[in-house]
Amino acid sequence: MDSESTTSTGHVSRKTVLRAAVAAGVAAPIALMGVPALARTLTDGGTPLDLTPECDDGDDLTLPQMEGPYFKPNSPLRSAMVDGPGTRLTVSGYVFGRACRPVSGVLLDFWQADVNGAYDNAGYTFRGHQFTGTDGSFKLSTIVPGLYPGRTRHIHVKVQAPGRPILTTQLYFPNEPRNNTDTIFDPRLLMTVRDAGGAREAAFDFVIDVPQNPGPTPTATTTTAPPGGTWAAGRAYAAGARVTYGGVGYVCLQAHTSITGWEPPNVPALWRVG
Ligand SMILES: [Fe+2]
Repeated sequence: MDSESTTSTGHVSRKTVLRAAVAAGVAAPIALMGVPALARTLTDGGTPLDLTPECDDGDDLTLPQMEGPYFKPNSPLRSAMVDGPGTRLTVSGYVFGRACRPVSGVLLDFWQADVNGAYDNAGYTFRGHQFTGTDGSFKLSTIVPGLYPGRTRHIHVKVQAPGRPILTTQLYFPNEPRNNTDTIFDPRLLMTVRDAGGAREAAFDFVIDVPQNPGPTPTATTTTAPPGGTWAAGRAYAAGARVTYGGVGYVCLQAHTSITGWEPPNVPALWRVG
């Protein structure tokens, strides 16, 4: 796909430049800060910390982190979840597989605290899921989450490619005082964040365990005949919908349109046995 190869090429080019800049001990060029790029940070002394995994050899997958107590399934499908006051924030980036090719159709489910550091456990405020586009990109519009006791500032996310395991992790903000005292914080999960006229623009790229050696990016548009069940690709399932697949009954946890690779046994984020 043209858009895919263009994006991939441009992205690798940026990363190459950034890697050279870090190796030389200088900050990333300002001109590069407006585009989705790998998260990075420098200590006060200018010593580079570990970078978010560079997608060059497929070995450096984005780190998993604990889910925490506030995940809820069945978040709304939406890329904008500006549900309350706070500093506006966009988080954009790409999801790559092991061969650094973007992966389309990846489920990204975000949840975070409001400006006061509170999670909405009754409803779906500051919760939402979306899917990467054909170029593997995503963009979330939200606010900068507030702080709550014991943690530094963070955004939770679950990432799942069709038919692949769920990556549960958290994204962090540079230059937060509490980053140094939060035992869960990991600098490899820092976003790049810049000010943008009173708002913030953040970037982060995920590298997930999707085999690509080097072949076509997984696409999932064909339909298949399920093995003796009512589940089918290309259908809109609502939360609570029931299907059978391979002789087993499943309940839909999150509304979605099914695609090949998301057969119920493969996607525990979407279906549970029941
Ligand atoms: Fe949290």
